[in-house]
Amino acid sequence: MRPHCRSCFCPQFFCIPLIAFLLQAPLALFLSQSSVVQSQTAASARPARTDSELNDPAIEARVEELLRKMTLDEKVGQLVQYSAGQPTGPGTGRTDYPDMLAKGEVGALFNIVTAKETNAFQRIAVEKSRLHIPLIFGLDVIHGFRTEFPIPLGISATWVPQLAERAARVAAREASATGIRWTFSPMVDLARDPRWGRVAEGAGEDPFLGSAFARAYVRGYQGHSLSSAESILACPKHYVGYGAAEAGRDYNSTEVSEHTLREYYLPPFHAAVEAGAGSIMSAFNSLNGIPASANSFTLKKILRQEWGFRGIVDSDWTSVGELMNHGVANDGATASLRAFKGGVDMDMVSSLYHDHLAHLVRSGAISEADLDEDVRHVLRVKFALGLFENPYADEKKESFAFLHPEAISLSREIAERSFVLLKNDLLSNASPLLPLSNDVKSVALIGPLADDANMMLGSWGGLGDGRDVITLRTALVQKLGEASVHYAKGSEISTGTDAQIKAAVDVAKNSDVVIIALGENGPEMTGEAASRTHLDLPGRQEQLLEAVSATGKPVALIVFSGRPLILPWAVQHVPSILAAWFPGIQAGPALVRTLFGENMPTGKLTMTWPRSVGQIPIYYNGLNTGRPIIQNDQTPFPNGHDEKFVSRYLDESNLPQFPFGYGLTYTTLRYGQVELNKSELRLDWLREELTSRSSSAPALLQASAIITNTGSRATTETVQLYIRLQGTSVAEPVRALKGFQQVTIAAGETKRVVFSVPAEAFAFWNDQNIFAVEPSRATIWISPDSASGTGTQIETRNKEN
Ligand code: BGC
Repeated sequence: MRPHCRSCFCPQFFCIPLIAFLLQAPLALFLSQSSVVQSQTAASARPARTDSELNDPAIEARVEELLRKMTLDEKVGQLVQYSAGQPTGPGTGRTDYPDMLAKGEVGALFNIVTAKETNAFQRIAVEKSRLHIPLIFGLDVIHGFRTEFPIPLGISATWVPQLAERAARVAAREASATGIRWTFSPMVDLARDPRWGRVAEGAGEDPFLGSAFARAYVRGYQGHSLSSAESILACPKHYVGYGAAEAGRDYNSTEVSEHTLREYYLPPFHAAVEAGAGSIMSAFNSLNGIPASANSFTLKKILRQEWGFRGIVDSDWTSVGELMNHGVANDGATASLRAFKGGVDMDMVSSLYHDHLAHLVRSGAISEADLDEDVRHVLRVKFALGLFENPYADEKKESFAFLHPEAISLSREIAERSFVLLKNDLLSNASPLLPLSNDVKSVALIGPLADDANMMLGSWGGLGDGRDVITLRTALVQKLGEASVHYAKGSEISTGTDAQIKAAVDVAKNSDVVIIALGENGPEMTGEAASRTHLDLPGRQEQLLEAVSATGKPVALIVFSGRPLILPWAVQHVPSILAAWFPGIQAGPALVRTLFGENMPTGKLTMTWPRSVGQIPIYYNGLNTGRPIIQNDQTPFPNGHDEKFVSRYLDESNLPQFPFGYGLTYTTLRYGQVELNKSELRLDWLREELTSRSSSAPALLQASAIITNTGSRATTETVQLYIRLQGTSVAEPVRALKGFQQVTIAAGETKRVVFSVPAEAFAFWNDQNIFAVEPSRATIWISPDSASGTGTQIETRNKEN
C-alpha cells in the first residue's frame, strides 16, 4: 500500500462524513438490483465495442484544431504526468508544479484527493496556460474510494462481475466528486504465484474469468458515457505479463512465450479494451528481455494495430526512467526515446519526457508527426471526458457523494458473497460447527484481525477510513451482547507474547465455541512491493491457533489474506475455515451474518491454494505434460503407484490444497453427468460462428447437467463449465474455464443447468499463432470446481470425416 491511502491525505472535511449518510437518492437506482443471477459463456460475455467516444468525428475535429495551435513544448507537456500529493514512491522531487502548469508543461497530475486541491491546480492550467487545456487528475481507486469494498481478489471470489461493475460505479461517483476523473484500475494481471503480493489486486488465475471482471470494472468506472461528470477513465494495468514475475518477486523479470501471452495474459486486457477502456498502463517488468514500457510488440503491434486501441498508454510510476536500470538505456534521453518508440504516450513521474522529448523531436530522433499522434491520444480522452466543458469539481457537493447507505449495503453484499468456506467438517455431534446457532451462549473471539478496523481495508485502501469500518468484534457484540463475547487478541499480526496466548486460551476454555480471526497485515503484506516466500500465518499466530485448538473447543478459523495462504496444520485440525480476504468497511456485519447462517457462503476460489511453497507456480489450467501422474488422492505416492519417472515431487502431492473454483456452503449439492445435445461438432459451423463474432449467432452446442441440492438449505451455486481439447496443434490445458453461471436451488430441489457453448470455447491460439478451431476431441465438464466431475466427450471434425 502506498502511504497516501489513508493517513497522509487527510483533509479536514473527511472528519464530518456522516452528513453523507443523510443523502439517499441518486445511488438508489443504480444499486437496486439485489440478487444477481447471471451466466457467462465466451459468446455471451463478448461485448459490442463501446469505443464510440474515442472514435467521435466531432471530438477528432476539436483535437486537430487544438493540435494545430500547440507549440512543441505544449505538445510534450500533454505527455507529462506527476504525483503532486504526498510523496508515495521514488519521484522527481519537483515542487514547481504551479509554474509548470501555467506554462502548459504538464498534462496530468495524480494523488490529489480533494476538490479544493484539484480545483486549485486546474484553475492554473485552465486560466493561466496559453491554450487553457485542462488537466486530468488520477488516483489509484482500486476497490472503492471512500466506500471501501473487499479487495479485488475477494470481489472476484463472488464470481459475479456485475457486482464489480456496481462497486466500480460507486467508486467512480465518489472519486469524480473530488475532481478525480481517472483511476489506475482495474488490475487485470493474471496471477499464478501467491508469493506475489499483487495477486490481491486482481481476479486470480483464469483468463476467462479475468476477462469478465475486466469488462465489468471498465463499464462500472466509465459508465454509459465518459462525458458524464460521474464517470472516470479506467486504466487496465499492468500491460503486460507483470503477474508472471519470476519467483513471485515484485518487479522481477518475466519470460512469457507469445503463445502463453495470447492465450492467458492478454485476454483480460483485450476484454478491457473491447469494453472501451480509455487508457492502459504499461508495466514495470521486462518481458522476454524487453521492458514492457518500451515494448513495441505489445504496445504497438498488439494494442494499437491488432486491437485498434485509441486511448492513452500511461507508463507505470517512473517505468520510463527505470529503462536505465533495466539496462536498455544509459541516459535519460535514450530512455525517453525507447519508451516513446515503444509506445508509451505519457510518462508517469520520471520527468524524462519533460526533460528530453522536445529535444529528441528537434534533433529528428522523433518525428513531430509521431509526437502529434501521442498527443492526440491524450487530448481525445480529455475531450471525451468533457474536461474542456467541465474542468472543475463542485467543492460544496463533494462530501455528500461519500458513503451513501446504498453504497454501504452494496459493500456488505459483496463482502458476504466473497467469503469462501474452505472447510466445515462434522463435529462429534454429527453437525458442522457452521453456521453457528443463535442460541450459542458464549463465543470466544480471538485473534489480531478480530477488531482491527484499518486491516479490513487491505492494500490500496484509497480514502477508506478505519472509522467507517465495523469490525467482527463490534458486529458480534451487536448480535450476541457484550456478555456473550469473550474477546482476547491472542497475538499481534507479526509478533506476540506468551501472556497474550495464555489469555486467549483462558478465554477459549470459558466459552462454548471459538472464532479465531487470523491472517496477514492487509496494507503491509499484500499489494505492491509485498512479496512473501513463506505463505503461512505470520508471527505467532500459528502457535496461537494450535494452543487455542488444544482446549478442545470447536474452532472456526477466519483467514484474512490478500492471497492464498498455506495452512497445512489448520486444514488438518481446525474443523471450519472461512477465507474472508480483506472485506472492506462492512467486514463485521458480513461475517457475522455468514457465521450465523443469515448469509450462505457462496464464494469460490479464483486462485489455487497450494499445499507448499515448493508447488508454486500452481494453477488449474496447466498442461498435461508427457508424463502426467494419475493422482486422485492427497498422497505423494497414490494407490501404491510408485512410478518414479512421472511429473511429480518426491516429497509432496501434485494436488493443490484447494483448487480453483472451489468453495463449500451450508448445504450439499450433487452434480449429474454432462449431457450434450449433439454427438459431434462440425468445424465449418464453428468457423462460421467464430468469424461472424456475433453474440446472436445460434449456439452450436448445449451442455447441461442436473444439480440436486441434497442438503437442508437453499443456496446459490456457481456452476462452472470447463473444456479440454486434445489432438490439437498445440497442447491445450487439462481444463479451461469456458462458462459459469449462478443458480439458486432450494433444499431438496433438482435443477437442470444449461450452458450454450459458443464456437469461441473451442478456439485457441494454434501453432501458427492464429486464434482458430481445429479438429479435436473435446472433453466437457460441468462441475462445482476445476478438480471434480466427470467429463463428457465430443469430437470437433471436418465435414468430410
Ligand atoms: C503501481 C501502479 C500504480 C502507480 C500509481 C505504481 O507503483 O505499480 O499500480 O497505479 O504506482 O500509483
